[in-house]
Amino acid sequence: MLRYLDKLSATLAIDLGTETVRVWEKGKGLIGEYPSYLAIDTQSKRILAHGKDAYDMRGRVAANVTLLRPFQKAQLWDRKVAQAFLKVVLRDALKKSLLSPTILFSIPASLKPAIEAETVEMGYSLGAREVFTVVQPLAAAIGAGMPVADSSGGFIMQLGAGIYEAGVISLGTLVTSEHSFEAGDDFEQAMQNFLQQKYQVTISHETAKMLIHKLATLHDGHPGSVLITGKDEKTTAPKELQINTEHVRDFIEERAQVMVQLVKKLLSKVPAELTGDVVDKGLLLAGGGALLTGLDSYLVPKLGIPVSIVDDPERAVVRGMGTILDHLDEFKRSLGYRGEQ
Ligand SMILES: Nc1ncnc2c1ncn2[C@@H]1O[C@H](COP(=O)(O)OP(=O)(O)OP(=O)(O)O)[C@@H](O)[C@H]1O
Ligand SMILES: [Mg+2]
Repeated sequence: MLRYLDKLSATLAIDLGTETVRVWEKGKGLIGEYPSYLAIDTQSKRILAHGKDAYDMRGRVAANVTLLRPFQKAQLWDRKVAQAFLKVVLRDALKKSLLSPTILFSIPASLKPAIEAETVEMGYSLGAREVFTVVQPLAAAIGAGMPVADSSGGFIMQLGAGIYEAGVISLGTLVTSEHSFEAGDDFEQAMQNFLQQKYQVTISHETAKMLIHKLATLHDGHPGSVLITGKDEKTTAPKELQINTEHVRDFIEERAQVMVQLVKKLLSKVPAELTGDVVDKGLLLAGGGALLTGLDSYLVPKLGIPVSIVDDPERAVVRGMGTILDHLDEFKRSLGYRGEQ
């Protein structure tokens, strides 16, 4: 009977991202990607929109609408909001099924014990019959096709919106890791501050993000140019600015130092017996931040090891979680596992 229920009820992986929550269903693959936003009616507290519809209200919200971000710095920022958000996400995923799902959540490695307990508890209160957790760098390594069960060490840096984490993996577990909360979100905030100081123009978070995605590069050459509209600080009138690659190059290099320092900090902690493997195999980059143009070739001389970017880096974690769902028994040892309730 239990086995029969097993087959009928959904087995889901939910990557709790600061910017995007991704949902994978065993047997189906990626079934949803939701910007991590929830719009609620300020007075009645009713949910008005979630995911993309809520995100599209950014910067345009009326006085009676509050926009909330349930996950920040890769954590459940506000438990109530996170739970409300995931409730609608689960409703989408499960359609009308009344059977309790099994859920695997991603969590940051560096804050495992506290966040794990909270996340697992939330899974059960959302009606799951079994809840597991996996740390993001391990899931990303599995998603990248790294043979994580090998005794030789694998080295990965996961660059998200809320957290950057670098870790060494061996024998199916994360042996050691380092993190920085100065991640993608702060990069965008820093770009806003930079333009304000340099050109006395205020730009939106969206414009800062677009500038980073379209213009930021760590390659020499590759000149590019983008026309942006901001607000003149003095007159408050709209102001157009043509920004080119050279204007932001020093700023981008300065930001890339966050990643260099993170990896160096980790390398200094790597157990001696794994150092050779790490240096030989090099560093894998995952997460949306890995899309920063030229990051791999920029890091090679700075770190003195090979560096490569995984395919479709933003989805490496959820892909890896999908692989875990397919081989749950094999991977149980590597997961945070709370057993059946
Ligand atoms: N081309 C690009 N250049 C630089 N950064 C990029 C690029 N494309 C996406 N990003 C950044 O990647 C980040 C999103 O990555 P990702 O989807 O892995 O984060 P997340 O899973 O939501 O966050 P976290 O895991 O930290 O909670 C954003 O900060 C985004 O700006
Ligand atoms: Mg992530």
